[in-house]
Amino acid sequence: MSAISFKKLSKSFGAVQALQDINIEITEGEFIALIGPSGCGKTTVLRHIIDLETPTSGEVLVGGKPPDEIRREHKMGTVFQRPALVPSKTVLENVQLTLDITGVTGPLSPKEILTNFGLGQFLHHYPHQLSGGMQQRVNIAAAMVHNPPFLMMDEPFSALDEMTREYMCEFVGEVLIKDPKTVVLVTHSMDEAVMLADRIIVLAPRPGRIEKTVHVDFARPRRRSLKTDPAFGDKVLEVRRELYGVEEDAEEEAA
Ligand SMILES: Nc1ncnc2c1ncn2[C@@H]1O[C@H](COP(=O)(O)OP(=O)(O)OP(=O)(O)O)[C@@H](O)[C@H]1O
Ligand SMILES: [Mg+2]
Repeated sequence: MSAISFKKLSKSFGAVQALQDINIEITEGEFIALIGPSGCGKTTVLRHIIDLETPTSGEVLVGGKPPDEIRREHKMGTVFQRPALVPSKTVLENVQLTLDITGVTGPLSPKEILTNFGLGQFLHHYPHQLSGGMQQRVNIAAAMVHNPPFLMMDEPFSALDEMTREYMCEFVGEVLIKDPKTVVLVTHSMDEAVMLADRIIVLAPRPGRIEKTVHVDFARPRRRSLKTDPAFGDKVLEVRRELYGVEEDAEEEAA
């Protein structure tokens, strides 16, 4: 059984067909990156998985069940572009909040997970006292502390500077080796997709559809030094060709 399965899913918002005939089978523990031009439907794909959209036709199943069941069972962690932290709560309280809301406890306490995430010295700080990268680490800790089998991330690193982003990619990759999950990451960054994913799905716009799939089989853990390996460059080039093919087609259509 697939961990996440899209079967002939289409989605329209009024006259806009956001997604057309999406078929995806994701295996348990697999890391998928969704990449494609702005407006091609990446976020809409993710929102179906976390039960924020219902398909116009077709279906999506998560763990063999409708997404609302998975949400009610608190099996889903989500990370968005901006950290969703409560400003009046400390780092520790923000992570504890996930456990209070879900009523689920994971193998690690909030203090332990934050220490593992390199934030042991900042437990009693407030979000505004942290850098953007540190805030996003707290956010990811809050999304993972109840140990959900599914993790959905929508451009989680895009507000960060490049060095912090590279560090975060390495960091998330390592966390997932210790604690595997089925992950879907929406990203605009080809480097990030190649660093993290087992499989990159390239979407094309108007209507949003799957254009190509690129497999990435570099051994893990993947360190920043991988970027200097010519094979890494070749893989990014492969993604770039698919992606720019999609964008050029879209530009020709629009002309
Ligand atoms: N709630 C909504 N109501 C109307 N149209 C919507 C809604 N959500 C998305 N759309 C439309 O669906 C299409 C896909 O949007 P989506 O946000 O999924 O794109 P995206 O690939 O995530 O883009 P970006 O890279 O800019 O984040 C766009 O044309 C968008 O305008
Ligand atoms: Mg989006």
